[in-house]
Amino acid sequence: MVNKKEIIVKNDHEQTATFGAFLIEKIIKQNQNPTTNIAFSGGNTPQLMFEKLSKLTNLNWAKVNIFLVDERYISLDNKNSNFNMIKKHLLNNIDIPSENIKNINYLNDINEAVKEYKNKLIEQFSLTPKNPYPVFDLIHLGIGGDGHTASIFDHQKINKNKLIDITTGKKYKRITFTYKILNHAKNILFLATGKEKKDIIKKVLQKDKRYPAANVETKGNIYFLLDKESASLIKNNKYNNNR
Ligand code: 6PG
Repeated sequence: MVNKKEIIVKNDHEQTATFGAFLIEKIIKQNQNPTTNIAFSGGNTPQLMFEKLSKLTNLNWAKVNIFLVDERYISLDNKNSNFNMIKKHLLNNIDIPSENIKNINYLNDINEAVKEYKNKLIEQFSLTPKNPYPVFDLIHLGIGGDGHTASIFDHQKINKNKLIDITTGKKYKRITFTYKILNHAKNILFLATGKEKKDIIKKVLQKDKRYPAANVETKGNIYFLLDKESASLIKNNKYNNNR
């Protein structure tokens, strides 16, 4: 696995979404294994990328499993559910077997929901004490204006010994992958656009560890897919390719 950090800056949000869709397609097609395991995040930024991804016609989704990086602990038909958003912009528009979709269910007891989701990981990745963490082919992450990623809002308050943890967002309780999963991915795709992200992007690329997104460090490849506005404080890509 060649580990690299690449900062890709496109002219605008639309071009960023197009590039992201093609990058995801490339990672799926280059995968030599029988199945590709991907985890997507929620939020507003990836919606156009998901729509463009759903229009790429020569992808065999039957060989792709889609997990969620995190979820707001609300009913799946709530418009604020990440699953609802990903279904609307991607899953409803592609030919993917339902058993390949690994969402987080909204159960009466949040701990039961965590346990059920963890079992999906154990089953898909054949996790054992000797093979304790899932290695995703691709994990897509957003970056909040406060530097959160997934639903990790404070990197010191996320359980470093668990695969999945419960956190508290502004409005909802969250279920989220921890760094134990994020930091073992073969490919991480950070997607962040717009001028309101320019300050946090600079801090994350400067590895300011106060911000959760800056604590994502996989041995695989990390892509920062930005537009000119979110990259406007980065000087001549000097953060590229170093670790
Ligand atoms: C969520 C997401 C979260 C998101 C960032 C960026 O549940 O909200 O998983 O991590 O990726 O908040 O969101 P935007 O793309 O809307 O800025």
